[in-house]
Amino acid sequence: MSNRERIDVRFKRKHLLGLEELKAEEISLILDTAENFKEVSERAIKKVPALRGITVANLFYEPSTRTKLSFELAEKRLSADSVSFSKSTSSVKKGESLRDTAENIEAMKVDIVVMRHGSSGAHKFLTEFLDASVVNAGDGQHEHPTQALLDMLTLKQRWGSFEGKKVTIIGDIKHSRVARSNIWGLTKMGVEVTLCGPPTMMPVDAHRMGEGGVRVEYDLRKAVAEADAVNILRIQLERQESKLFPSRREYLGMFGITEEVLRNAPGECIVMHPGPMNRGVEISQEVADGERAVILPQVTNGVAVRMAVLFLIAGGKSSEAEIN
Ligand code: NCD
Repeated sequence: MSNRERIDVRFKRKHLLGLEELKAEEISLILDTAENFKEVSERAIKKVPALRGITVANLFYEPSTRTKLSFELAEKRLSADSVSFSKSTSSVKKGESLRDTAENIEAMKVDIVVMRHGSSGAHKFLTEFLDASVVNAGDGQHEHPTQALLDMLTLKQRWGSFEGKKVTIIGDIKHSRVARSNIWGLTKMGVEVTLCGPPTMMPVDAHRMGEGGVRVEYDLRKAVAEADAVNILRIQLERQESKLFPSRREYLGMFGITEEVLRNAPGECIVMHPGPMNRGVEISQEVADGERAVILPQVTNGVAVRMAVLFLIAGGKSSEAEIN
C-alpha cells in the first residue's frame, strides 16, 4: 500500500484495547497519522479543530504522570472537550463500582473514555455496556497500547522502517503491560524481539509471546550484543507479591543498564525507557542522561500518538487536509 493510499484509509475500530488485536496495517496507520500530528505541537498555537464537539473523559484509577498529561494535552490540542478524574479525588473512594462510575459518565454524553485501571481486562468489561469508545491507557499487567505505539514511533523515526531490526526488552517482563504491548506491536511489524531479565520476572512461556514468538536470553551482555534498541522496564515494586530480587543495588549489578553493559551493544543502539525511571536500579544515571537515550523524545511522541489514536477512534481520516 502506498503512503498516499494508506493515509486515506479510515480506522474502523471503535476501541483501542491492545496491540494484540491490531493488524500491522492498522499500526502503520496510527504511526503515520501521529507523524502528521507531531508538527501541531511545534506550532506557536498548538491547536487544530479536529475533535471539536467531541467529549473525552479520562478515568485514572492508578497513578500516572506522563500518560495522563499527554492524553490531556492531546485532547486539548485537538480541541476536544475533556474532563479527568483520578481515583483519589473521585467517588470511587466512596466505594462506587467501575460500572456505576462509567455509566454515570456516559449519562453525561461522553464520546470517548480513556482509562487506566489496575485490573487486566477492565476495558473489555467496559465496552460490554458502554456506547462510548474506550481507549486503554494501561490495564493491570495486560496491555498499554499507546505506550508501545509511542515507543514504535520513536524507533521508526530513527530507523525509517522496522524491517530486519532487533529490539531487546529488559527487566520485569512478567509484570509489564509495556512489555506485552511492545512485543505484540514489534513482532507484528517484523522486528526481532529478545527478552532479558531475572528468571523470577520472566513468564514461563515467554518465548511464545507475540506473533511468531521471541528470543529469551538471560545473559544481559549477549542480549544487547546485536540490539538496534534496548527498552528498559521499570522495576515494578508495587506489582510484586514477593521479593523477586535481593536488593536494588544487586539488580543494577545483574540486569541494570550501565555504560559498561552498553559497550557490548552496537554503536548505534539506542536506549528507551517508558518512565518513571528508578535511576540506579534498572538504569544508571550516565545511561539515562547519555547520548544513546531517547527517553524524552519518547515523551514528545506520546502526545502525537495519543492525538492520532483519539482522532482515528473518533472516525477521522488521516489526511493532512483534515489535520490542518
Ligand atoms: C508505565 C505504566 O504505567 O505502565 N509507565 C507509563 O505509562 N509511562 C510503566 C511503568 O509504570 O513502569
